[in-house]
Amino acid sequence: MSSTFGNYLRVTTFGESHGGAVGAVIDGFPANIPLTAGVIQIQLDRRRPGQSSITTQRDEADTVEILSGVENGRSLGTPIALVVKNKDQRPNDYAITNTIPRPSHADYTYMIKYGVTAKSGGGRASARETVGRVAAGAAAEIFLREKFGVEIVAFVSSTGDVSVGVDSGCSVNSGDSSSKNRIDINTITRDIVDRNPIRCPDPQAAESMEKLIKRVRDDGDSIGGVITCVCRNVPAGWGEPVFQKLEAMLAQAMMSIPAAKGFEIGSGFAGAAMRGSEHNDPFTRGGGQCPPAAPLATKTNNSGGIQGGISNGAPIYFRVAFKPTATIGKEQITTDYQGNETVLKSAGRHDPCVTPRAVPVVESMAAIVLADMALRAGYN
Ligand SMILES: Cc1cc2nc3c(=O)[nH]c(=O)nc-3n(C[C@H](O)[C@H](O)[C@H](O)COP(=O)(O)O)c2cc1C
Repeated sequence: MSSTFGNYLRVTTFGESHGGAVGAVIDGFPANIPLTAGVIQIQLDRRRPGQSSITTQRDEADTVEILSGVENGRSLGTPIALVVKNKDQRPNDYAITNTIPRPSHADYTYMIKYGVTAKSGGGRASARETVGRVAAGAAAEIFLREKFGVEIVAFVSSTGDVSVGVDSGCSVNSGDSSSKNRIDINTITRDIVDRNPIRCPDPQAAESMEKLIKRVRDDGDSIGGVITCVCRNVPAGWGEPVFQKLEAMLAQAMMSIPAAKGFEIGSGFAGAAMRGSEHNDPFTRGGGQCPPAAPLATKTNNSGGIQGGISNGAPIYFRVAFKPTATIGKEQITTDYQGNETVLKSAGRHDPCVTPRAVPVVESMAAIVLADMALRAGYN
């Protein structure tokens, strides 16, 4: 199983959901970047379970330790090992999955591929694996911010049928066009995103989303949603022209997040219904959305900040769709490994909606891709 992502910045995650620990090893991280466990912890705290009444009640502090690669608050240029010990394991909650694979989880496909599964709770398919991504992504982000001023902000833009309007510089803006508080991707910050447990910057929409999540949870059910992410101040010229296009790497990174089911960049699927005359992003002199070093900017941003696989200096923005959580409390009629039809009522703690906790995971995967591209572009 490949647990390594990236070419120049290589991130390997390790650990099972109810094993001893989870974490990441980062190879290729540049030297002399200020890095402490405290800064990485900020992002891990945004991902951790038990942070509000609408997330799983598994109680993990998710305290990160830096085992190597950093001394006196600076990276050494050697592999950085980041570890988070699991504390609140309850493997017995998952005993039933030895005989009945959970519908739409990874129990069945892991069993077919490996003939053995982790003792509990999804093993590597659990969202605990994303601890390593977030720890490594937080480090990658510090490098991007320190050296290039890159800012990455993700937020929940829809939950079930409740969505917010987003002003993205596209000819057709996504989300609810009647929304009063449209979210401007040029100014949105993490402080604004974190004002409510849903991580949706529109307070009214967030309230409706919270009610919806509580309703489905009380019904023993789950619900899906969409996360929008913007990466600002990415210099023009990062990316590759063919198979490792910047948007292709972002798509791979996002689609590798558990429960991700869709990826759209810029105008995305809405662009398919437009004419070229509406969709093209005409050039104008630098300034505007481009950093000063780039001679030209674009008037609109249907491209989502990437053309020909290479960043053009405009904000890179994309959306990731997440399915409703597979583990639900409601009874489901399904079939066990012996082929007998049976009823499954899952025990175990789970997120009724994964998006609030997936926000830092999306930001982290974006940071890992961009840091990899920065190193390819010649930073050393
Ligand atoms: C932040 C986050 C939290 C998640 N929490 C749960 C959960 O509590 N229960 C569950 O069944 N799946 C949860 N998932 C999704 C599963 O890990 C995922 O559906 C499973 O690995 C199967 O993979 P797939 O959905 O990508 O096919 C979560 C995903 C993320 C990103």
